[in-house]
Amino acid sequence: EINFFFPKEHTLAVIKPDTAEEHREEILGEIQSKSFTITRLHEMVLSREVAEEFYKEHRDKPFFSQLVDYMCRGPCTMMILTKENAVEEWRAMMGPTDPSKAREKAPESVRARFAKDILENTVHGSSSAKHAQEKIHFIFGDISSESEVISTGEDNG
Ligand code: TYD
Repeated sequence: EINFFFPKEHTLAVIKPDTAEEHREEILGEIQSKSFTITRLHEMVLSREVAEEFYKEHRDKPFFSQLVDYMCRGPCTMMILTKENAVEEWRAMMGPTDPSKAREKAPESVRARFAKDILENTVHGSSSAKHAQEKIHFIFGDISSESEVISTGEDNG
């Protein structure tokens, strides 16, 4: 089966708290240079409840409470990124969870360059289209009616 047209896909991307302003700008620049469309961009401080719900899949992990502390520590930049294969491409840009592994396996990746350690690892990206849909709905509500209305690189709050 040959597909000549690939549907655009959305992923949820987050620049986590404590990311230096110049790194944040660099990450946003790279997202645009890789031809992602930033369909939504919203800077927000997560409440504990929201952070716990956001990472509910990890509720039983030993690092859960530290992860929630970190996510609430300051503003997060929440984004919907749109492109063919957006989920996988943003994960590739992020690199592995642990920056020491990232530096070995993907030295160009965001985490290889900017992450402090496995917990404070600078960025989040959905791991599947299903997760992306769920988290986008959780953070941004229903975007289905406007999913084709796309503005490149604009901060539309
Ligand atoms: P996970 O979903 O496994 O990684 P990813 O963010 O690459 O999809 O984990 C979610 C977050 O939990 C991760 O970004 C940082 C934190 N975390 C730790 O603090 N310690 C750990 O050992 C792991 C696996 C994750």
